[in-house]
Amino acid sequence: MIFEQIATGGCQSYLLGCSDTCAAVVIDPEISQVDRYLGIAARDGLRIHYLIDTHTHADHFSATRQLARQLGVPVVMHRESPAPFVDMRLDDGDMLLVGRLRMQVMHTPGHTRDSMCVLAEDRLFTGDTLLIGATGRTDLPTGDPDALYDSLFRGILRLDPALKVHPAHDYKGNGHSTIARELAANPRLQQRERSVFIDMMRSLTLTMPTHITEALRSNMSGSKTVAQLLAEAAAVVPFMSLTELKARVEAAEEEFVVLDVRERDAYENGHIPRARLLPRGQLELRVNDDLPDPTRRIVACCELGRISTLATATLRELGYQRAVALDGGMKAWREAGYPLKSGPEP
Ligand SMILES: [Fe+2]
Repeated sequence: MIFEQIATGGCQSYLLGCSDTCAAVVIDPEISQVDRYLGIAARDGLRIHYLIDTHTHADHFSATRQLARQLGVPVVMHRESPAPFVDMRLDDGDMLLVGRLRMQVMHTPGHTRDSMCVLAEDRLFTGDTLLIGATGRTDLPTGDPDALYDSLFRGILRLDPALKVHPAHDYKGNGHSTIARELAANPRLQQRERSVFIDMMRSLTLTMPTHITEALRSNMSGSKTVAQLLAEAAAVVPFMSLTELKARVEAAEEEFVVLDVRERDAYENGHIPRARLLPRGQLELRVNDDLPDPTRRIVACCELGRISTLATATLRELGYQRAVALDGGMKAWREAGYPLKSGPEP
């Protein structure tokens, strides 16, 4: 079996392949690693057949939908998944054939209602049902400590103790564990009475994952994250560096428009000399009057360089083919000590 573990911070994803046939799957892919999965598959001559999420993640942005679109292959989840873009919904005991690899699914609710574990040869991909030295939390949407107890003690912990455990999270760089090791040393598994286990899970005080609302929104609907929206805009616009812009401003190039897309008060507090004000929120409404010449060279700037990227993508879409975005924003411009003007537009 071909096996590759890809970490994104503490989030773990896995690329598994059949060495005889070069068929592969990705388990719990993360959105910032899309190129890496495709790169590894290309490097090893693998074709990805399925994109599997072990559950609805609340703490990272799933890449299953984007990869599925790019590759034309199905997204696979448990049938309880709320995501409308799941192509293949599995039940407990279902199996996927990946070349000669057999991948057996176990429904393991508890961390979420749609949690499942995937057994492939001597490895168990446990999602957030069983972590190394911990278990998935049960206080997020559809979590249930009672169900987690069954999924663990009447489910995966009865499997072969030698099985390697590969969780969806590992913040301590442990790599992997085994069922036997977890049974012996995982502090959350030492309470084997149902009621004691449930009380322990209920009494955990855990901080909310960062980006939980955005992660659930994106993972449950398949919609874009804000970072994706920005990355897509950044992929279709050129940029100009702060030093390049400074040189061109100082040379007073006439043909050149610096377009400040912040709000008026921010502009009046300090802007690039000769910059014109056109707030992002009014861009489409005012562009015809304010920028009648679509052949003008325009560099858009904002406070941090994100809104200006979106504005530049819009300008290019509208036919301003020489629009570029400032690489950085007014914050970086001020910090560099570059020239500023304050007050209203001339
Ligand atoms: Fe999770």
